[in-house]
Amino acid sequence: MKNILLLGSGGRECAIAWKLSQSHLCGTFFIAPGNAGTAEYGVNLPISYNDFEEIGKACLEYKIDILIPGPEDPLVAGIYDHFKNDPKLKNIIIAGPSKAGAQLEGSKAFSKKFMERNNIPTAAYKEFTAESFEQGVAYIKRSTPPIVIKADGLAAGKGVVIAQDTIEAVKAFRAMVMDKQFGESSKKVVIEQFLEGIELSVFILTDGVNYVLLPEAKDYKRIGEGDKGPNTGGMGAISPVPFADDEFMLKVTERIILPTVNGLKDEGIIYQGFIFFGLIKVNGEPFVIEYNCRMGDPETEVVMPRLENDLVELILKMNEGKLNDVIVKHSRKATAAVMLVSEGYPGNYPKGREMSGFEKVNGSKLFHAGTATKDGKVVTNGGRVIAVTSSAPNLKDALAKSYENARLIEYEGRYYRKDIGWEFE
Ligand code: AMP
Ligand code: GLY
Repeated sequence: MKNILLLGSGGRECAIAWKLSQSHLCGTFFIAPGNAGTAEYGVNLPISYNDFEEIGKACLEYKIDILIPGPEDPLVAGIYDHFKNDPKLKNIIIAGPSKAGAQLEGSKAFSKKFMERNNIPTAAYKEFTAESFEQGVAYIKRSTPPIVIKADGLAAGKGVVIAQDTIEAVKAFRAMVMDKQFGESSKKVVIEQFLEGIELSVFILTDGVNYVLLPEAKDYKRIGEGDKGPNTGGMGAISPVPFADDEFMLKVTERIILPTVNGLKDEGIIYQGFIFFGLIKVNGEPFVIEYNCRMGDPETEVVMPRLENDLVELILKMNEGKLNDVIVKHSRKATAAVMLVSEGYPGNYPKGREMSGFEKVNGSKLFHAGTATKDGKVVTNGGRVIAVTSSAPNLKDALAKSYENARLIEYEGRYYRKDIGWEFE
């Protein structure tokens, strides 16, 4: 039995918690800080996932064997290195990359150079800073719109601008490098070619040499139906992805996954953990839009129900460098998650709205995202509130079940997209 600490408080963590708690190898299980949903599977600890000192103390107090960072922030900030450099913590298994490996997500410039070195298909690009502002403007003027401007570092999902003309592109570029819109994160920017196609998310767990492929997923990022309106953290997800057929996935494996895992190994970058490939299919060919050094949210809410292997076993195999021994099994069922959100999201939204109807839900799993318990009642506590997730022999039935149950969870200002998975029905 292994004692486990999972970091994070979103729907992703709730889905991971649900999955871990089913393992015969899961001992005492903690989530920091967790939400009202994760408390059903383990013990929530009131610790921030960025507070390495407190996390370290909790690991010693509760004799933690495995630490799983859910979100990117602690990974990019170097939680792996923090643990490995501390004699008291260094034997704890961390399901996540070193600080150097997390740069795949933490720096767009790093990830673009990595892809260039390893011949991994991605949009053509150049990087610029305030010092090379004039060259950047000239590059924008030579490019054909739309033009994609990306802050180099983490920017809470807001660091990408798709400019429809050169004026808008220069404005976004100036705001980032000259006006430091995202502080340190936008001191450097990547300006790249716009790729026209359809996006999907592919996930692996790697031990640094071998890897297992997890179920792929598609998320729905915009707030409005028909993919309109501002970007959100994700309004729903489906798995499997109908257009990710065998032929396409073979290309993904040969051109993207293998060169990435081999590139990390050859460059001496320590990476034992999840890699999330944000891909786009352009005329049948896969390109990398971005890497993330963690699982996706809300993709994890549909990936975990389709993963038939024991997740703790996979993590132990990862730690032994023996993921090549594992035969990964994906359920043949389709899974669909519909995200219920708060009114106003992704702008300002209220918190603390009382929720009801949980007992009426039948046939769906509820992966809590922004919820909390207050005076014994479940209340809203974030923009994305709950992912209503269902599995069925086909996508249509999985969606129908999620929508049937989504209607039953009630709180003031509830909103959800009614068209998740619509293009595949
Ligand atoms: P990122 O933060 O890199 O995931 O970018 C956010 C979103 O912007 C992506 O999910 C895509 O929808 C879009 N995007 C980013 N880069 C490109 C690109 N080169 N071409 C087309 N769309 C892009
Ligand atoms: N769903 C996209 C992400 O987790 O970044």
